[in-house]
Amino acid sequence: MTNNTYSDFRLYKRLLLQARPYRLHIAGIMVLNLVLIPLTLLTPLPLKIAVDSAIGSQPLPRFLDIITPDVFSRSPTSVLLLAICLLVIITLLLYLRGFGSSLLETYTGEKLVLSFRAELFRYVQRLSLSYHDKTGTSDSTYRIQYDAPSIQWVAVQGIIPFITSLFSLVGMIYVTALIDLQLATVALAVSPVLFLITQVFRHRIRREWSSIKKVETRVLSVVQEVMSALRIVKAFGQEDREEDRFLRHSHDSVKGQMRIAFIRGEFDVLIGLTIALGTAAALFIGVRHVQAGVLTLGNLLMVMAYLAQLYGPLQTISRKVGDLQASLASAERAFRLLDETQDVVEKNNARTLSRAAGGIAFKDMSFAYPDRPPVLRNISYDVSPGTRVGIVGATGAGKTTLISLLTRFYDPTEGSIQLDGTDLRDYKLKDLRAQFAIVLQEPVLFSTTIAENIAYGRPDAGPEDIVEAAKLAGAHDFITALPDGYETQVGERGMTLSGGERQRIALARAFLKDAPILILDEPTSSVDIKTEAVIIEALERLMHERTTFIISHRLSTLANCDVLLLIEDGCLAAVYSDVATALKEFAAFDNEGRITLLETTDAPACDN
Ligand SMILES: Nc1ncnc2c1ncn2[C@@H]1O[C@H](COP(=O)(O)OP(=O)(O)O)[C@@H](O)[C@H]1O
Ligand SMILES: [Mg+2]
Repeated sequence: MTNNTYSDFRLYKRLLLQARPYRLHIAGIMVLNLVLIPLTLLTPLPLKIAVDSAIGSQPLPRFLDIITPDVFSRSPTSVLLLAICLLVIITLLLYLRGFGSSLLETYTGEKLVLSFRAELFRYVQRLSLSYHDKTGTSDSTYRIQYDAPSIQWVAVQGIIPFITSLFSLVGMIYVTALIDLQLATVALAVSPVLFLITQVFRHRIRREWSSIKKVETRVLSVVQEVMSALRIVKAFGQEDREEDRFLRHSHDSVKGQMRIAFIRGEFDVLIGLTIALGTAAALFIGVRHVQAGVLTLGNLLMVMAYLAQLYGPLQTISRKVGDLQASLASAERAFRLLDETQDVVEKNNARTLSRAAGGIAFKDMSFAYPDRPPVLRNISYDVSPGTRVGIVGATGAGKTTLISLLTRFYDPTEGSIQLDGTDLRDYKLKDLRAQFAIVLQEPVLFSTTIAENIAYGRPDAGPEDIVEAAKLAGAHDFITALPDGYETQVGERGMTLSGGERQRIALARAFLKDAPILILDEPTSSVDIKTEAVIIEALERLMHERTTFIISHRLSTLANCDVLLLIEDGCLAAVYSDVATALKEFAAFDNEGRITLLETTDAPACDN
């Protein structure tokens, strides 16, 4: 990925590409904007006709005379009528144009933002966990919710007025040049100066905006973090401290906004000054020309009036460039998200897989999280289909990491993992992940009904299937006891249910998915012994004829495994096939039946 140098050219090019599906709409907006120029020029016409032709006796302007029937030019009354009709028609047209243009702008802008957001969301979901571990959720949220809309400001409110101003600028230059070429040249000499000033300030403003966006992301992440851990914050009574943290970051944002206001102020003063200098020069030369008799006084006055108008679009263009910087900084952030490389990629000719037998083989596999020392080292082990593999080891040994590699949340840094004899990386990701049902220590529920939560992995499942799965998971009884049964809404992340209830819903989800391989990461560690018994019974049914990886610290949960793997310091320290003896051999049990691993000898476990 490139760092701070997203050139404007590339940025505009990407924005235009992004806006391509709406090019007709954008062309429409452009036309409506250009129509404004002649309409504005026509606005004083009725008054002119009323004064010159209805009250006075001058003929109608040539072009009107040609297109109107003769009756209009005969009596002053009919000429007055014509002027009034024109006034109404022109005003009506002006407002209709405004109406159409704002409708079209809103439609195009919103559609653009929606499609851009959808693309970002799609991409973010597919980015690897390493990316999200590193950047955090608020960053992605901010980019999708607050940076993406920039595309509409750039395309609709930025580029279009910019282009229309260019058009009127060219027109006015032409008219001025017809009257006095030298004057026009002098007047235009300010353009390069304006351009230079704009260049300098553009960069400064953009830099400020980029840093404001970062600060604002931090503010958002404080809010998100606190809201998702509100219980802890309240329990520890740290509301004031969090508020301080919030205010501190917010103050940084205020300071940044003030710096931008200051820079914008300087910028405006410089632009105004340059234009004043241009006007002064034109005035000086103009007066000299009048004195020398080259230019009439009337023409000088007219040129000065045109100059005032000429500088209008120039000023708009410079201002727009300043205004656009916030949007461009945002657009750049949004595009950078799309530039993030996917670390877990699917091969082009990846294999499809409908249902695996469930054989897993670790082939001299090592893994390190990005920029960290290795977490897993040289793991080699074969698991034949249908085996129940218990994984034990101290906290931080690398157990969760090991099973995260199975579903390709991360890829091994060395060696490989095979499913049914084929490297995981050779399968289609979707097919591969369909082979696993996962139950974690902290079950994750979504804020919807229990039925939908159970059917999360198989949205097409019928109600009978859902009830069947819930029965197998030992969840049916408590679900039917709830006031709305299967239609009960669970709160955000399932907060309205107890830990054991959530865990059984997660199990039901796994039953319904009916995958050949099962991954259980400490499924019973957060429930009491009584609930554990229910869960273990359900697990027993679930593990039947499936390859199972179960991480646990509890004897009761591990007792029925076929083999135990001991992970120590990221190495496969031992494999026990006589599970009962093994559990006795290396573990001492406390009165809740938890395994306490004994300190191993001081020789490092991974000297293999
Ligand atoms: N996303 C991550 N990024 C960096 N390091 C991590 C990440 N997740 C876990 N680790 C580190 O990897 C090691 C193993 O963690 P983990 O697999 O969760 O251990 P276990 O499940 O055995 O308790 C720990 O030292 C932990 O700090
Ligand atoms: Mg773990």
